[in-house]
Amino acid sequence: MKIIVTGGAGFIGSAVVRHIIEATHDEVLVIDKLTYAGNLESLASVSSNERYSFRQIDICAPTALATVFQDFQPDAVMHLAAESHVDRSIVGPAAFIETNIVGTYVLLEATRDYWSQLTSSAKESFRFHHISTDEVFGDLHGTESLFTETTPYAPSSPYSASKASSDHLVRAWMRTFGLPTIVTNCSNNYGPYHFPEKLIPLVILNALEGKPLPVYGNGCQIRDWLYVEDHARALYTVVTEGEPGETYNIGGHNERKNIDVVKTICRLLDEIISDKPMQIDRFEELITYVTDRPGHDLRYAIDASKIERELGWTPAETFESGIRKTVEWYLANESWWQRVKDGSYSRERLGLNS
Ligand SMILES: NC(=O)c1ccc[n+]([C@@H]2O[C@H](COP(=O)([O-])OP(=O)(O)OC[C@H]3O[C@@H](n4cnc5c(N)ncnc54)[C@H](O)[C@@H]3O)[C@@H](O)[C@H]2O)c1
Repeated sequence: MKIIVTGGAGFIGSAVVRHIIEATHDEVLVIDKLTYAGNLESLASVSSNERYSFRQIDICAPTALATVFQDFQPDAVMHLAAESHVDRSIVGPAAFIETNIVGTYVLLEATRDYWSQLTSSAKESFRFHHISTDEVFGDLHGTESLFTETTPYAPSSPYSASKASSDHLVRAWMRTFGLPTIVTNCSNNYGPYHFPEKLIPLVILNALEGKPLPVYGNGCQIRDWLYVEDHARALYTVVTEGEPGETYNIGGHNERKNIDVVKTICRLLDEIISDKPMQIDRFEELITYVTDRPGHDLRYAIDASKIERELGWTPAETFESGIRKTVEWYLANESWWQRVKDGSYSRERLGLNS
């Protein structure tokens, strides 16, 4: 297959691209605008492979997209490009509306234009796979219920509302125009190459520097954590074996309170690091409760039984194995995250592009 991966320089997109290049014979073209969240250094391990190529393109730019489709002639699009950080969507929602809603619309139209010119068998086998989030369902109260594929949408933040809008567009393009689309909604991911503004890498890196470990509110918000490489495998399974018109929820059966996630990381660091960064005995002493995020969702939890039953995917990592791998990865890959923290990963790129 020839697959376009939008947002392939981001956290999950780069895991998808590494998976496709390392575990399959497929060809990948990454299209990515390279916002602050895009980092080509996350693709260094595959960038010299002849089945990999990259184009710096904004998904809101129809002409550039049309050229890419005609040149590359894809069999599938995996659409991950998005603004993805809830806190940023509260401070500045405009970029979320532009990329997540308008960008998805422009990409759908570019895809439809290309797809409509294919032969009927190529049209039938073509896939547009939209990667979305469980945050479109809002939040759960109580400890029992789970998000299923039929849970009504009730997004809380500008981020989740923009993702919900894009999910609706994708489904409408199948119903109205026949474009073979599939939507996946996944829970919180964690793992290597995660941008250090998100909870898990932020806590690991702040702890290493002896800085406060910020926890929103009382820290009792529950998230359902999935190791990013398990997600990448699930996404490849869906794009190759999923049914057009279907939605698949993806999750790791790993519900944890935020405060417990932070304490787990602290305990792992206590175990691994003998030289503490400052006058502390245990990393937990750095935990600092901060004012809660407005509209903060209480609990997310995914019922992933459909993808397990119908496509045979199951997560390989438990939270305990995945979080250990993640902490060890950050300890072993300081050069990657130092260049993110000091900005050199994007400054050098801007210099190259000017
Ligand atoms: N991170 C999670 O826990 C999670 C969970 C479920 C679903 N998702 C979804 O998965 C997708 C990827 O998430 P992520 O965490 O890897 O995000 P990310 O922020 O790490 O990466 C997003 C990528 O999209 C690129 N991008 C942004 N705007 C663009 C534009 N206009 N044109 C082209 N490229 C653009 C960025 O440069 C970046 O490389 C998103 O759609 C997100 O909603 C994420």
